[in-house]
Amino acid sequence: MSRAGRCIVGVIFTLAALARAHAGGSNSLLDVSSDGTLLATANRDNGTVSIVEIASGKLLREVNVGHKTESATFLGNSHSVAATAYADDLVVIFDANSGNVLKSIPVFDEPYGIVSKRDGSKVYATLEYPGQVVEIDPAAGTILRTIPAGEFVRGIALSADERLLYATEYYTGSVLAIDLADGKVADRWPGLASENLARQIAVHPRRPKAYVPHIRSRVNVNRGEGSVVPFVSVVDLGAGEGRRRKPVPMDSFVSVFVVANPWETAVSPDGTLLCAVFAGTNDMYVCSVVDDDYRELTYRKVITLGNNPRAVRFTPDGGKFFVYNTLDFQVAEYETSSLKLLRKIQVCENPLGDEILRGKILFYSALEPMVGRRWISCASCHPDGDGDGRTWQNPEGLRNTTALFGMAWTHPIHWSADRDEVQDFEHTVRSPLMQGRGLIRGKVNAALEEPNKGLSRDLDALSAYSNAHKFTLSPHAKQGLSDAAKRGKDIFFARETKCAECHAGPYFCDSAPSRPFKLHDVGTGEDDPSEKMGPKYDTPTLLGVYRTPPYLHHGKARTLEDVLTTCNKADRHGKTSHLSREQIADLVEFLKALPYEDPEPAAQAAGLTKIER
Ligand code: HEC
Ligand code: HEC
Repeated sequence: MSRAGRCIVGVIFTLAALARAHAGGSNSLLDVSSDGTLLATANRDNGTVSIVEIASGKLLREVNVGHKTESATFLGNSHSVAATAYADDLVVIFDANSGNVLKSIPVFDEPYGIVSKRDGSKVYATLEYPGQVVEIDPAAGTILRTIPAGEFVRGIALSADERLLYATEYYTGSVLAIDLADGKVADRWPGLASENLARQIAVHPRRPKAYVPHIRSRVNVNRGEGSVVPFVSVVDLGAGEGRRRKPVPMDSFVSVFVVANPWETAVSPDGTLLCAVFAGTNDMYVCSVVDDDYRELTYRKVITLGNNPRAVRFTPDGGKFFVYNTLDFQVAEYETSSLKLLRKIQVCENPLGDEILRGKILFYSALEPMVGRRWISCASCHPDGDGDGRTWQNPEGLRNTTALFGMAWTHPIHWSADRDEVQDFEHTVRSPLMQGRGLIRGKVNAALEEPNKGLSRDLDALSAYSNAHKFTLSPHAKQGLSDAAKRGKDIFFARETKCAECHAGPYFCDSAPSRPFKLHDVGTGEDDPSEKMGPKYDTPTLLGVYRTPPYLHHGKARTLEDVLTTCNKADRHGKTSHLSREQIADLVEFLKALPYEDPEPAAQAAGLTKIER
């Protein structure tokens, strides 16, 4: 062999070795240790990470990490694991061999994705709110840098040379590149306005390409086919001319086979295959990666999976891959060459109870009896109980998607209080939006006042799950209320501003489940010509508003300031015109600090009604 030939072989060999050695290059609920012996699974509903011995398929241990474990990664070539506890604001490092927690590192808020450098010397985690990446020294357990990184960042991956970090904005689908030398955003690949729910990014081991699973939320379409559309976008990471972001539609990828809620992708270590899991239709595409900068991906196979698959990961030698069917609490192991299922491994118990689990399965499902044509599920717009950051053009007018936190205590539901129980969403299931067969056998009570509760166990389970979402505390009040927030609190509770007349009690609203419902005209019903139900609306809770823009039923207030100023010109929504700019800012600081205590005990003490299902 010529010298040049040897050199090329050498380079290829090194590249292959690098790719193999590099477990943990992109965020996932799953990771495999670089020696290929251990599998780590982040069990979001249990707050644990399970460690499985791959050779035997045996569950070795389950390690407590904290609520909503969203991502786990092995550190370099070691058996140490770093994991995020999204709801507890912790990054936890533990030893997979012993289960001992080595470090528990508090971060500001919402750590989501986590990746490790190849030598294990640093880990990087996205903080979805307030949109930062933290660089952590796992040995010392300290945060080295906090890097501003767009809004609501979730996905994270390291470039092959580890000089850049790629991150995805959850609600815009945008991809950012952060230069690790100076900690600045060096590049940006914006998504279209409809692009949404980009929670992960995977980088190709050799080509300058990244893959981002996401949906498009087409807010003007109210029919199941076309309102939510699945994509994997292929992002051209190289510099220069003709750089693009190619959105590959997953619903027309294989003629007419529709999939829903793309959650995660994985590229095989040799770069030839891409797997994409669909958490709504419970299936997966295995695609060939085409090296032509044009088609990018071609179809190999569709694999039917279990309930709510959220993660897929190859072993470092590429021989196998794992899929995490999260609502079966099982990992399925496949052989890459044959794409055959080898076995299923139970990684934890169901912590939710039977009823909530059933409700959650239905909520995430884009299949019958929930959905007729596979594009959409409740979770397409309410992922994990959050809103989708969108305002939909509904037949009754513009409607900003609400988060479901605290809903058990804030019935009636919908901005117009036209529904008094989640069981009324049987109408949504059967509507043109979802076109499902429905959960009630026989007659549905058409009049919304007539109870649909008790007519179907599944429908009651859907309701129990929807009502089970609880608030986490605002990160803005971790050290107690700031001075500005304290001044804002006085303004909020001042008789003159009237805020607390409607935003009253532990949930900061006056909603109560008994008729007649209290609705208020706060002057917001006139700025939408398509409105059919205004101008009175149910008072929304103010808990959690620090992270739920846009605001108001029509989503026309981009910020909390807008709610109190440009959207309240005539003082019909409380009285704000007499407040100085500083006072408005203080009031906003107070709103951002909500909730600073758990509202449930106070709600119980006040005798408020809780709707459990
Ligand atoms: C196309 C997006 C979309 C889908 C799909 C969807 N929702 Fe919603 N959801 C919304 C929007 C927008 C609102 C606000 C509408 C309103 O209040 O009038 C909302 C409001 C709600 C609320 C009221 C929350 C509150 O506190 O007032 C509940 C409960 C809810 N949805 C449950 C469901 C369930 C259950 C499903 C599935 C059967 C579902 N949604 C499917 C967009 C969607
Ligand atoms: C008369 C009852 C009433 C009073 C007084 C009132 N609100 Fe509201 N508030 C509402 C209603 C109803 C809405 C929903 C209006 C809409 O969506 O169009 C709302 C919406 C809001 C929102 C948007 C929440 C979201 O999730 O989009 C904020 C923030 C808010 N109010 C803060 C305040 C503050 C601060 C004050 C005092 C200056 C105040 N409100 C006074 C009834 C009231």
